[in-house]
Amino acid sequence: MTVSLGIPVLPGRTPAGLPPRPAGARGLIDRYDREATDLRVSLTDRCNLRCTYCMPAEGLPALPRDQALSADEIVRLVGIAVRELGVRQVRFTGGEPLLRADLVDIITRCAALEPRPEISLTTNAIGLAERAETLRAAGLDRVNVSLDSLHAATFAQLTRRPFLERVLKGVDAAAAAGLGPIKINAVLLPGVNDHEAPELVAWALRNGHELRFIEQMPLDADHTWSRDSMITAADVHRLVGERFTLERAQEPRDGAPAERFVARGRAGDDLGLEGTVGIIASVTEPFCADCRRVRLTSEGSVRSCLFSHTETGLRDTLRAGADDQALADLWRDAMWAKPAGHGLDDPSFVQPARSMSAIGG
Ligand code: 5AD
Ligand code: SF4
Repeated sequence: MTVSLGIPVLPGRTPAGLPPRPAGARGLIDRYDREATDLRVSLTDRCNLRCTYCMPAEGLPALPRDQALSADEIVRLVGIAVRELGVRQVRFTGGEPLLRADLVDIITRCAALEPRPEISLTTNAIGLAERAETLRAAGLDRVNVSLDSLHAATFAQLTRRPFLERVLKGVDAAAAAGLGPIKINAVLLPGVNDHEAPELVAWALRNGHELRFIEQMPLDADHTWSRDSMITAADVHRLVGERFTLERAQEPRDGAPAERFVARGRAGDDLGLEGTVGIIASVTEPFCADCRRVRLTSEGSVRSCLFSHTETGLRDTLRAGADDQALADLWRDAMWAKPAGHGLDDPSFVQPARSMSAIGG
């Protein structure tokens, strides 16, 4: 069976050739001794931006509504994840999750689950100004905001939409509503916004946010990523180092994708600025061996890795009336097949057919 993007969807059994999954294991374990406790749920593949590293200018065909999970189905699957599979953190992503009209309902119901998961949202913050308070009241704990430039023209070039002011208002409202500590995700593109790295750090430190630089990964719909031209973690150190010292943070990394540093302003207006900056070196220093993540796409398929070439569909089994145990077992089988890593450095690496907007960051 295939979905519209041409990605093979496994029927759910352990694929031929894999060793059998240990009977009785409860959590989402894989063959490389990892256990996923962090679930990313993509609520929609639609987005109101068109970031060049993610979507093509004309957008992507949206999933027909009846193929996307309903709020009931999402809450059911998240419930199975926290009760049966040991998931402790749930992050809603997109596309842009604020585009889901029933987002507050989904969060309210997920916050009522036992055991209650930690609930966060990755958003571009457009429309967050109007909804931050309500989302907080519903049970949202934290937000991560994608923001790559503080200059209107560069923001518009990068996202192909002129919405910088709305994003900044959304970030302020989220902070005021208590949705912190707010993490700001920035992807640097050579010749576009890489020179802004120190300015982004200064802005984040002044406002009490944690900035994280994410190395660009080959997940763009236009397939323009190039290892040779991408801005690496080493480049970030060089660029930020012009204005800030970066000292490795003391606390253990604990499976987190970001390596954290304490940034301190070197001189002038930056003197006295201090706070945490993260670098997510997915490409040059992969952290796959420590990965604790599992993804559910908006059409209800499990992706064990961002770079998977297969997915395990849960939606049709759910709609056919399967009980929680059967769905939990399908999910465990999907994780057992998780690859060791993304293999970006392998000459045989092939970019997955889905772009980031269709996977869910
Ligand atoms: N490489 C790295 N990060 C990406 N994101 C989207 N596409 C890519 C890519 N190709 C980021 C967004 C968002 C996060 C979830 O993923 O900026 O903040
Ligand atoms: Fe939308 Fe996020 Fe993709 Fe940008 S990176 S187009 S905000 S889904």
